[in-house]
Amino acid sequence: MLGNDHKLVVVGSGFFGATIAHKVADELGLPVLVIERRNHIGGNSYSQVDSTTGIEYHRYGSHLFHTPNEKVWGFINRFTQFNNYRHRVFTRHHGRTYTMPINLMTINNFFGLDLTPAAAREFIERQTAAERILSPMNVEEKAISLIGRPLYEAFVKSYTAKQWETDPTLLPVEIITRLPVRYNLNDFYFSDLYEGLPMDGYGAIFEKMLRRPEIRIITGCDFFEIRDVIGQSVPIVYTGPVDRYFNYRFGELGWRTFDFELERLDVEDFQGAAVVNYADPDVRFTRIHEFRHLHPERRYGNKTLIMREYSRFAQKIDEPYYPIGRREDKLRYDEYRKLADAEANVTFGGRLGTYRYLDMHQAIAAALRAYDTEVAPLLTNGNVGDR
Ligand code: FDA
Repeated sequence: MLGNDHKLVVVGSGFFGATIAHKVADELGLPVLVIERRNHIGGNSYSQVDSTTGIEYHRYGSHLFHTPNEKVWGFINRFTQFNNYRHRVFTRHHGRTYTMPINLMTINNFFGLDLTPAAAREFIERQTAAERILSPMNVEEKAISLIGRPLYEAFVKSYTAKQWETDPTLLPVEIITRLPVRYNLNDFYFSDLYEGLPMDGYGAIFEKMLRRPEIRIITGCDFFEIRDVIGQSVPIVYTGPVDRYFNYRFGELGWRTFDFELERLDVEDFQGAAVVNYADPDVRFTRIHEFRHLHPERRYGNKTLIMREYSRFAQKIDEPYYPIGRREDKLRYDEYRKLADAEANVTFGGRLGTYRYLDMHQAIAAALRAYDTEVAPLLTNGNVGDR
C-alpha cells in the first residue's frame, strides 16, 4: 500500500509538514510520503466552502495570515494572492460592543470619558497604582496590576475564566506576561507589515503546495498504525504531538481544546465583523466567528454562517489546540525534548511536535529553517547541519 520509493515521510500536513514536503519535492525532486490523520490536508489552517451558503469557513476557527517576515511572505505568495483584509476584534460586555485590544476608544467608551492619549495613560496608571500589587501571585492580580480593576473585571475576568474553566485567582501568574493597552485609536489587531486572507482560501494553498507528482498523500491515516511498515531507515518529519510519539513516557502535556458550533442564519450580516469576543459569564461561548467578513472582495448571498467557539481542557481523545504551558508541562516537555533530540532520522516540528503555540507564519519560518539545517543536509549528504 505504501510503496517504498519515498525518501522522506512527513507526518501531518499543516503548514510545517506541507512546507517541508513541498521544498523537498520542488528543490530536491525527491519522492515524499505525507501521512495525515484527518480526512483532509492543511492541518488547523484548513478552510472549506459551505455548500448551503457558499461561504468559505475555517474549520478550526478564524485563521488570519500576518507576518513581519519577508522570507515567509515571499514563500507563501508563491501559492496564493492575498486580499487586503485587516483584522479587528470586538468584545461584547453588558450589551455593548467595544474595540480590542483595549485602546483609547475602549477606555473612553467604557468609562464614558473623552480623554486624550496622555490623560488616559495617567488615568489607568492611577488605577493600577491604587491596587498596590507589587508581586502578583495569580492571573487576576497580574491583570489588575497591568490594566486596573474596572477594565479587568469587564474584559478579562470572565473571558479568562471561560477560556480556562478556572477562576483567574487560581490560575498561575506565568500564563499572562502582558496585556496590551494602546493609548491611541489604533484598533488593528496586528501590526505586521504583511497581512491578508488568501484569495482562493487556505484549502487551495495546500492543494498547490502538495499536489505534485513527487508527493504521495495518504489522509485518514494515523502514523502510529503504519509506523512498523514504514521502518526505521527513511527519515521522518514528525508534526504530531511529541508526548504521543514517545508513548506518553513522562505523562501527558496539557492542552486546551475548542468545540466549534456552526450555524447558518437567514440574515446577511449577523455581527458586522469576523470575530467578536463575549466577555460576560452568562454567555458560555468565548467568541463568534462570522466568516463572510474575511473576504469583503467576494459577493456572498443573503445568508450568513457563524461559528461559536467553546473552550475547555483537552482530554486524550480531543484535538489539542493551545499548549497550556504550566510549570509541570514545561518540565515534562524538557524531558521529551531530550528524547526528541536524540531520535536519529526524525525531525520534530510544528506546534504539536515542539509543544509551542505558533502562528502560521512562525510554523512556516520554522519549517524553512528546519529544511535548510536538518532535512536537506540529511537527504543530500546524510548529515545534519547546525540546528
Ligand atoms: P497543524 O496542527 O496545522 O498540523 C499538524 C497536523 O498533523 C494535523 O493536521 C494533524 O491531524 C496531523 N497529525 C497529528 N498527529 C498525527 C498522526 N499521528 N498521524 C498523522 N497525522 C497526524 N495562526 C495564525 O497565524 N493566525 C490565526 O488567526 C490563527 N488562528 C488560530 C485559531 C485557532 C483556534 C488555533 C487552534 C490556531 C490558530 N492559529 C492561527 C495557529 C495555526 O493553526 C498554526 O500556526 C498552524 O496550524 C501550525 O501548523 P502545524 O503544521 O504546526 O500544525
